Amino acid sequence: MADMLLIAHEPLRAAMRTVVKGCGSSDAEADAVANNLVEANLTGHDSHGIGMLPRYVGAVREGGLKVNAHVSTVLDAGALLRLDGHAGFGQVVGGEAMALGIERARALGCAIVALGNAHHLGRIGAWAEMAVAAGMISLHFVNVLARPIVAPFGGAKAGFGTNPFTAGVPLKGRPPMILDFATSTIAQGKTRVAFNKGEPVPEGCLIDGDGRATTDPRWTVQPPWGALLPFGQHKGSGLAVLCELLGGALAAGLVGQGEDGSRQRVLNGMLSVIIDPRALHGSDGWEAAADEFVAGLLQIKPREGHERVLLAGDPERRTRAERLARGLPVDATTWQQIVDAAASVGVEAAALRRTAGLA
Ligand SMILES: NC(=O)c1ccc[n+]([C@@H]2O[C@H](COP(=O)([O-])OP(=O)(O)OC[C@H]3O[C@@H](n4cnc5c(N)ncnc54)[C@H](O)[C@@H]3O)[C@@H](O)[C@H]2O)c1
Repeated sequence: MADMLLIAHEPLRAAMRTVVKGCGSSDAEADAVANNLVEANLTGHDSHGIGMLPRYVGAVREGGLKVNAHVSTVLDAGALLRLDGHAGFGQVVGGEAMALGIERARALGCAIVALGNAHHLGRIGAWAEMAVAAGMISLHFVNVLARPIVAPFGGAKAGFGTNPFTAGVPLKGRPPMILDFATSTIAQGKTRVAFNKGEPVPEGCLIDGDGRATTDPRWTVQPPWGALLPFGQHKGSGLAVLCELLGGALAAGLVGQGEDGSRQRVLNGMLSVIIDPRALHGSDGWEAAADEFVAGLLQIKPREGHERVLLAGDPERRTRAERLARGLPVDATTWQQIVDAAASVGVEAAALRRTAGLA
């Protein structure tokens, strides 16, 4: 296994900010990107954390990711909003899209926000958390515009991306449900993390270039390419296709096909449905029913091998508390990739180490 560094979240945010600023981003953009990536690490999703930064830097340098871009409105029709992200940082245009959708749902009771042409939107759970913090329920269907990496059920070759599905539900008096997952067995970034650590991935997640089962993460990290499998057999594969149809075709007018493998750019399309539960159900009609159900669920006796029944969102909250206290583990390969990316935009390794508190 690769060596691990342990870095406290504040200096890590500061270090990531310097790299994003090196790309030419404003202070506000550098803050948004650094905070979003470090938050992903804090919640335990290292696949969508600071390890993405080298790819973002590469995308900026190639011209596929535009710094300091903001959303523009393509369609504004009551509860329907269609936005163009202009290939800007997903951390910025995703936040802007959600803010507009939340405002609209507050006014009208619900909103459907179609965001196209956004660069990588990171951990989609962050957008559900933003909705939930405003008292809203949100659903997100997302496609990934990069080289296809997930095989459809029954297929020996990739046909779409890891197309995440996410939902957030606020619950009165308890933490919200944040259900947030890639529709592949594991997120693509998790194969990169495993590859960097020199570890295999669990069985049942990958096929090689000939469609045979493998646990070697190289098949989704470097050519010749294999593919990830969808979760849940034909059911997960169906949800992934739905994300492509709604997040890709409907929201963005673009679907993830073609062999664009040399480019660092990753675009996401996202269809978000935002509902104000108070508009639909008054203030307490549904909250008592939801609470009764969740309380009962969490009291169900655990099966062997499980500590207790959890609500989606609980594992992230637990990891966040641990990592805030102890620091974030960053493997040496990932750190070196960040150092190299930083150097390519004029941030010296020694300065980066100092800012991250590693000197
Ligand atoms: N932007 C993109 O292009 C893109 C693409 C794919 C994935 N992603 C992101 O990757 C991240 C990781 O996805 P993943 O599929 O690896 O996530 P995962 O397999 O870790 O599943 C996470 C979900 O399952 C819940 N969960 C985990 N253990 C649980 C338990 N014991 N009981 C109840 N619920 C439990 C979590 O709370 C969370 O909602 C997500 O944040 C996703 O949005 C982004």
